[in-house]
Amino acid sequence: MAQDRSESLNPLEASRQPDEDLVARLPTREGWSTPLTLYDNCWLRSHMVSKFMLVRDDFKPRRDDIILATHPKSGTTWLKSLAFTISSRSRCTFADHPLLTSNPQRVVPFIGVPGTGGDLDHLDTLPSPRLLSTHLPLTLLPPTVSTVGCRVVYLCREPKDAFVSRWHFDNKIGTGAPISLEDAFDMFCQGCSPFGPFWDHHLQYWNESLARPQEVMFLRYEEIVSDPLKVVRNLACFLGVPFTEEEEKSGLAEQIVRFCSFDSLRNLDANKAGGGVERAGGKIFLEASSLFRKGKVGDWVNHMSKDMGEKMDLLVKDKFKGSGLEF
Ligand code: A3P
Repeated sequence: MAQDRSESLNPLEASRQPDEDLVARLPTREGWSTPLTLYDNCWLRSHMVSKFMLVRDDFKPRRDDIILATHPKSGTTWLKSLAFTISSRSRCTFADHPLLTSNPQRVVPFIGVPGTGGDLDHLDTLPSPRLLSTHLPLTLLPPTVSTVGCRVVYLCREPKDAFVSRWHFDNKIGTGAPISLEDAFDMFCQGCSPFGPFWDHHLQYWNESLARPQEVMFLRYEEIVSDPLKVVRNLACFLGVPFTEEEEKSGLAEQIVRFCSFDSLRNLDANKAGGGVERAGGKIFLEASSLFRKGKVGDWVNHMSKDMGEKMDLLVKDKFKGSGLEF
């Protein structure tokens, strides 16, 4: 299975080769479980940069695509489960549901991540309407994503919780020395974390959602936690498959919330420890269970000092000032 799947899996060689010399000249930093390289103002896992460089030119968005765009550790796994279950409900019953045997990351391919069914050639062969996902910022996707009419669901999370989740996750998947909380914090606050700076990522999609509210839905992890039923209903409408009166009467929306809940998914064999380990680009090791840690809002207080919390809050206030986006 895969996660930050952009941080991910078995690299098949892309058919077109980007300029490797250019990649080698880009700024690179060590510290997280793999080195990161700054490409077009976004820190990417260095071993994935050349794959992601192809996306802007080679990925062909379709008008009826639905793209789940997330900043990593914001609940990608959850959003994939919900969106997949909602949109596939006419084809799958809960008794033979693909999520019973596959990690949620697998059922919605990442754009530009070879080996998760996300390589670009494979995406071209998928029937419409496609349900796809990405951690890439809008600026690294083709501009036609904004003009062709496809829909985007964006998910972010309160930055302190997202940071704590990132720190745990990186230390779980890495094969070298773990990164200390303090070093991880400094890098995260400098914007240097996978797909960071997080503020640019959030703001790009936030502004897009203001400009195209019919086509870009902006979600936060915390709002799904506080009212999952409302989000599931809104998501169904946004995806163009609202619940019918009969479905509502039968409690289908509630069933989907339960089926995709943290406890329900975490307890499936496919998502338990030993339920699958994959080598990601030969650099990191992903175990399905590492995608399900605590699933709580406010867990940062158990790891970060008060000072760190205040520092991050100030940073967030400053970066989002005037945007209308608040955490
Ligand atoms: P924690 O590390 O805080 O527990 P992503 O899928 O983007 O990598 O995000 C992972 C975070 O989402 C983890 O947060 C994980 O526990 C949480 N998560 C995964 N599945 C979830 C679910 N069904 N409900 C709520 N949280 C979930």
